[in-house]
Amino acid sequence: MHCGELFLILCVLIVKSASKNCIHRPQIHTIEGEPFYLKPCGVSSSVHKNGTATIRWFKGNASHGYRELNTESSPRITLNSYDLEFWPVELEDEGTYFSQVGNDLQNWTLTVIKRNEHSCFSEKLVKNRNVEVKKSLQITCENPNYSEPTKHTSLYKNCKEIVKPPMVQKDAEFGDEGYYSCVFSLRHNGKQYNITKTINITVTKGNSKITPAILGPKFDTVKVELGKDVELNCTALLNKNDLFYWSIRKEDISNPNVLEDTNKTTWTSEGKLHAFKKLRIRNINEKNLNVLYNCTVTNEEATDTKSFILVRKEIADIPGHVFVRGIIVAVFISVAVVCVVTLCVIYKVDLVLFYRRLVERDETLTDGKTYDAFVSYLRECHPENGEEYTFAVDTLPRVLEKQFGYKLCIFERDVVPGGAVVDEIHSLIEKSRRLIILLSKNYLAHGTRLELESGLHKALVERKIKIILIEFPPASSFTFLPPSLKLLKPYRVLKWKADNSLSYNSRFWKNLLYLMPAKPNKPWREESEALTVLSAPWSSTKLHVRTEGN
Ligand SMILES: *[C@@H]1O[C@H](CO)[C@@H](O)[C@H](O)[C@H]1NC(C)=O
Ligand SMILES: *[C@@H]1O[C@H](CO)[C@@H](O)[C@H](O)[C@H]1NC(C)=O
Ligand SMILES: *[C@@H]1O[C@H](CO)[C@@H](O)[C@H](O)[C@H]1NC(C)=O
Ligand SMILES: *[C@@H]1O[C@H](CO)[C@@H](O)[C@H](O)[C@H]1NC(C)=O
Ligand SMILES: *[C@@H]1O[C@H](CO)[C@@H](O)[C@H](O)[C@H]1NC(C)=O
Ligand SMILES: *[C@@H]1O[C@H](CO)[C@@H](O)[C@H](O)[C@H]1NC(C)=O
Ligand SMILES: *[C@@H]1O[C@H](CO)[C@@H](O)[C@H](O)[C@H]1NC(C)=O
Ligand SMILES: *[C@@H]1O[C@H](CO)[C@@H](O)[C@H](O)[C@H]1NC(C)=O
Ligand SMILES: *[C@@H]1O[C@H](CO)[C@@H](O)[C@H](O)[C@H]1NC(C)=O
Repeated sequence: MHCGELFLILCVLIVKSASKNCIHRPQIHTIEGEPFYLKPCGVSSSVHKNGTATIRWFKGNASHGYRELNTESSPRITLNSYDLEFWPVELEDEGTYFSQVGNDLQNWTLTVIKRNEHSCFSEKLVKNRNVEVKKSLQITCENPNYSEPTKHTSLYKNCKEIVKPPMVQKDAEFGDEGYYSCVFSLRHNGKQYNITKTINITVTKGNSKITPAILGPKFDTVKVELGKDVELNCTALLNKNDLFYWSIRKEDISNPNVLEDTNKTTWTSEGKLHAFKKLRIRNINEKNLNVLYNCTVTNEEATDTKSFILVRKEIADIPGHVFVRGIIVAVFISVAVVCVVTLCVIYKVDLVLFYRRLVERDETLTDGKTYDAFVSYLRECHPENGEEYTFAVDTLPRVLEKQFGYKLCIFERDVVPGGAVVDEIHSLIEKSRRLIILLSKNYLAHGTRLELESGLHKALVERKIKIILIEFPPASSFTFLPPSLKLLKPYRVLKWKADNSLSYNSRFWKNLLYLMPAKPNKPWREESEALTVLSAPWSSTKLHVRTEGN
């Protein structure tokens, strides 16, 4: 190889690398208004063979002969070394072009496409490109053929510009489908031109096979009624050519009531193929129950099966009217229970008293106390407290002692005069199971506080005695009630209403008996007999009842 030849080759390489690619394709489509060029291939070898390398261009067609092109042919056409350049190409440039370098003749047929006014690109000039989902999608705008005059490059997706940066580099998703247009803005002789190259990106599902699978649980129990129809649904994830079918039992093959859907419904989601197939069972009979109906998807690598079993629906066993009756009974029982509970709450006292009488319960045997109750009352008899005084010394012992066999401690009657009153009272309260306080305005106003306080102390602090409070009207005036008395449970406070509480069948006496310790009574009289004594005038009845014992 001569040194001169080597130099020439280097020159050609440099020229080539700085210029456009040659164009092999004989059929060329281009768009009006864009820069365009033609360049024969293999020129360098022609030049090498033929030192006088000049190129000639012709345009023409079979019917009209050929016309040589030169710089005067059109202001838009320039001859630049081996290129024939159009700035820009127009519709009238359509036709066949020939280049001649030495003996080498090349031709191209050029079709110029009309610009689409309504779009940023022309659909006839897009390149289609498929990208597999999840695979790399890369779109960059480069035009080596016009790299030198290109001043600005921008990228559009479906004609909306992608800025910062004008490129795409990511893993393909289905949302990436669309037309991506690179627009190269270039300047030539002080004028601006745009070249638009558009790629139609289609994202395809992965070619790699998936493992076929039936969706949902592998076993399904379907409740059916005899004589009805049922559709068993099977959905699978599979490849295009995988088998997907219902297995029909031998005994069902001839049975027209068990029918596999001949068509399968298919759809793609997330790039994966799904299929849906039904098995219809009409007029279900006993033979269809408790056998497995299998739905299978399979290919040469894997198999998946789902089984369905039909079982008889249970609810049909309860006829409607039985069900309604059941509900009525249930409601009735609930109402009855509520009533019983309510009655128990209302007649609690009566029930307790009845029970005590029934079992002859006696709480007084073992505690070593003498009295069942200490009666605390205002001991001076004034006209304004005559009612409670009579109640304390007369009515109360008459009913509780005579009628119900209790033993009361009434100061006026049971305390021997002349002792140390304070100690006496203390020990009497100590020996009593209950402290009955006859509470009235006067009681609190006069000096009976000792008993009150001693009793309250025992009740609230020592818990040795239980207090029963009997209020005498008017109750609302007890504004100065000791705070500890207010702590008494409301059911331990009884209200004496002279008119309503007369009969010892009245609520007042029942409540009082309820609060008294349980003790089997040996009534002196028939219960039905009213307290006739009580009808006597209050003031005159200053009766002194002797201690009776039992
Ligand atoms: C041949 O070229 C002439 C003008 O150059 C044109 O009018 C004619 O339509 C062309 N014919 C064909 C078949 O391309
Ligand atoms: C070189 O080119 C000239 C015309 O440009 C031509 O006449 C000649 O035959 C060519 N020589 C070779 C070897 O191709
Ligand atoms: C164009 O060139 C091809 C060979 O590259 C040739 O077969 C064809 O006849 C040529 N067409 C014309 C119109 O010369
Ligand atoms: C773009 O690709 C889609 C999907 O392959 C195709 O349906 C559509 O026809 C293509 N558009 C053009 C203009 O070729
Ligand atoms: C540059 O020209 C070559 C040859 O015609 C062509 O194949 C290529 O697509 C062109 N490049 C661009 C970005 O247009
Ligand atoms: C070229 O494209 C740019 C946008 O990229 C636009 O602003 C300009 O008008 C276009 N020029 C021509 C001549 O189409
Ligand atoms: C099967 O699908 C149909 C609707 O396509 C539905 O009516 C039917 O209840 C489904 N069967 C079962 C067993 O889920
Ligand atoms: C369904 O599959 C079970 C095992 O999964 C098999 O025992 C039964 O025979 C199959 N039934 C049919 C109808 O193929
Ligand atoms: C099943 O598919 C065939 C064509 O493949 C169609 O003609 C027929 O109507 C389809 N039947 C149902 C029930 O979809």
